[in-house]
Amino acid sequence: MRKRGRPTRSIAALVLSLALTWPSLTAPAAASAAPAAPAAPAAPAGPAALAATPPMGFNNWNAFGCDVTEELIRETADALVSSGLKDAGYRYVNIDDCWSLRERGPDGTLVPDPAKFPNGIKGVADYVHGKGLKLGIYGDAGTRTCAGYPGSLGHEDLDARTWAGWGVDYLKYDNCNNQSDGSQADYIRRYTAMRQALDRTGRAIVYSICEWGTSQPWTWAKGVGHLWRTTGDISDDWPGLRSIIRQNAPLAAYAGPGHWNDPDMLEIGNGGMTATEYRTHMSMWAMMAAPLIIGTDLRTASAETLSILGNRDVIAIDQDRLGVQGAVVSDEHGLMVLDKPLANGDRAIALYNSTDALATVSVRAGATGLRRAGAYRLTDVWTGATTQVKGTISAGVPAHGTVVYRVRPLDDPATVAPAVAVGAELGTVVPGPTGGGTLTTSVTNRGVGAVRDLSVAADVPEGWTATPAAEPRRARLATDATLETTWQVGVPAGTPAGRYPIDVTASYRWGPRNRAAATSSQVVAVVVTAPEDGRRHLSTISPVTSVNGSGPVEADQSNGGALENDGNLITIAGRHYTRGLGTTTGSELRYYLGGRCSRLVTDVGIDDEAAAGPATFTVHADDAAVATSGPVAAGEPPKTLTADLTGRAWLRLTVESASAGVSADWAEPVLTCGDVPDDSPVLPESRTLFSFESGTEGFTIANPGDGGSVSQTPLFHTEGANGLKVATPVAGNWFGRALDTPLDLTGATMLKFDLKAGQVGTVGEIAVQVGEAMSWCQGGLWTWTNPGASKTVTERFEQIGCPVGVTLDPGDIRAVWVFLNTGGEVLIDNIRAE
Ligand code: GLA
Repeated sequence: MRKRGRPTRSIAALVLSLALTWPSLTAPAAASAAPAAPAAPAAPAGPAALAATPPMGFNNWNAFGCDVTEELIRETADALVSSGLKDAGYRYVNIDDCWSLRERGPDGTLVPDPAKFPNGIKGVADYVHGKGLKLGIYGDAGTRTCAGYPGSLGHEDLDARTWAGWGVDYLKYDNCNNQSDGSQADYIRRYTAMRQALDRTGRAIVYSICEWGTSQPWTWAKGVGHLWRTTGDISDDWPGLRSIIRQNAPLAAYAGPGHWNDPDMLEIGNGGMTATEYRTHMSMWAMMAAPLIIGTDLRTASAETLSILGNRDVIAIDQDRLGVQGAVVSDEHGLMVLDKPLANGDRAIALYNSTDALATVSVRAGATGLRRAGAYRLTDVWTGATTQVKGTISAGVPAHGTVVYRVRPLDDPATVAPAVAVGAELGTVVPGPTGGGTLTTSVTNRGVGAVRDLSVAADVPEGWTATPAAEPRRARLATDATLETTWQVGVPAGTPAGRYPIDVTASYRWGPRNRAAATSSQVVAVVVTAPEDGRRHLSTISPVTSVNGSGPVEADQSNGGALENDGNLITIAGRHYTRGLGTTTGSELRYYLGGRCSRLVTDVGIDDEAAAGPATFTVHADDAAVATSGPVAAGEPPKTLTADLTGRAWLRLTVESASAGVSADWAEPVLTCGDVPDDSPVLPESRTLFSFESGTEGFTIANPGDGGSVSQTPLFHTEGANGLKVATPVAGNWFGRALDTPLDLTGATMLKFDLKAGQVGTVGEIAVQVGEAMSWCQGGLWTWTNPGASKTVTERFEQIGCPVGVTLDPGDIRAVWVFLNTGGEVLIDNIRAE
């Protein structure tokens, strides 16, 4: 549950004193551990009219983290007005964590940080209200907020009164440091306490419950909060977005006016995703009747960002007064169809493609809530185009894209253009005369009445060829008929590996007046090339395709659970590996070798995080099995497989078992390609800085007053036979040391260390001191590790921030430190540069 964007602190202060305090982070107990839920106490949620439709507004967290100020909030309010977003419905301007002082005032009240809010929260509320907007604040149902500011547990009435007195209209109420036993009853108790405190203030305040879906709030929070988070924190990347949609979409039945599922705030505009992905973000939030809380810098937002956030047709779907979250009509192979009824009788139908390739997504009108009709009119809410279909709503949807139609029955289809779906499929493409690939295009007329003079074109990159097997033309294509064409695609030798777009366009005529029209879809050609010469960790080479039995395949960690990046160190029968592939049974990974590789050597085994098995690991070269483990049981020591790949074009790794989804590891697989000596170093090269083989290696504590200690231990090691046992203070400390001679890490790009958390989990971070002045440069990731879990903490040099005027020169490292916290024991090893 740990987050990116921990607060940045004044580096100057750090250099002077190194006196750092850090919040303790309590990981929420798993919801599954919760005993049967008691009935929620009957608590009034204030007038449902307060959030009759999903709240819309802005929150600073996604773009600014802790850097929130009165100026930012005021300028954002101005920008909401001047950009037209206020008129489009965005109302709340919400302040997130870090707005208060670190301690309560002498009278016990929360105190706005005077440096950030010179006019207090009241001052900024007045300003925001003056613009016809509303102000939101952030609190926490624990002893401290996530960033370590005072929490409201046990101070509910005082804090609610304080906020109401300042004119606050919206409260986001978080869940860090919650002192919880993990039971649902405890969650209900803590969040209801604030509900009742808000009620007692008499002020209408929207109440946003933010406990990350931990206690399944959708089952109890109606009548307590107006909205509740259903997932962990969103991040500005595609896997994160896809995962949140997958978690929130099935919860449609629980949402309605005054009680909404909240899949978290918008990342649109923050730069980590493509415009297609951001349109999916906006489309799916609207279809899921989700709160639309903008999370980007509106003062500098691009025209494209503003047009996505400001699309009135999409907003109208989100804000429709029926207040029904779109239901999942179908969800197969990564293609999802949602159906949302609208107050005027129309339905919004979304065709969502979460796969990595263009796909034709279809739904019969009869499978949705649309009433029976001879034809339907479709308005594409992103392009504005209007088409008609007879009975199947269908479109070629780009990878990661979503098409949203507003649909209604249509009496007279003759005057509306027929909907034509253009699909295309293309496997991987190999450059050169013996390579190439096969493209299959399909054009389907979904409209009432035939289309005429149909022709199909494939627009390939410069220098490529696309040759159809037969003339891609039809004089006439009837309703629901398809023209399928296969094309041989040729790619010039030397074309670099990558993704290359190919536009497929169907041109045709329709209707009594023989009007010309065209429909295009974009398919992406994936050009694969053989790995470079050398011995390489396979986990650093991208597979061409990757299928897993459960959750994503993880690189350099075990499979873990359903989410990306949620594994542990790969561990087989107690042996830890820092490299490898964390798969599950039922997985298949394919790599292109192009006849240039000779050998794969790998350990295999069932990960210690799994209890089941047995499973069989097999290495296939082209169609032959070239190495196999035979059945391997859980707890069995790792087996080593050596596979001869000489001359083979493809490598395929499979794990088979009677039980699906069991965590299964390819531990430290190394692939040899080209003509390289057997003893050449495995790439990427890694240099151990501290191995703790000879003792504690002089490790000290940066802030002696804060406590902590270190000792050598054989209990955990990822290289050699020993690691370091670190006892941490609750607020944390930096462990490490100054070096006798400056360390030259020129050529390395990152620092890493491995850790195993004790009973309370820990945050891990890395800092270095550089140059004569011993300038303190620290990372900003604050990676969280759950209790008992293990992990590699990684920080790229470019992620490490130095004081103004100092640049991090990897050639002149004077000290290395790691940060650990929460007041328990943490085992670490193998601090290294790569
Ligand atoms: C939690 C919440 C985030 C944000 C941060 C602030 O992680 O889920 O949305 O409010 O805390 O520290």
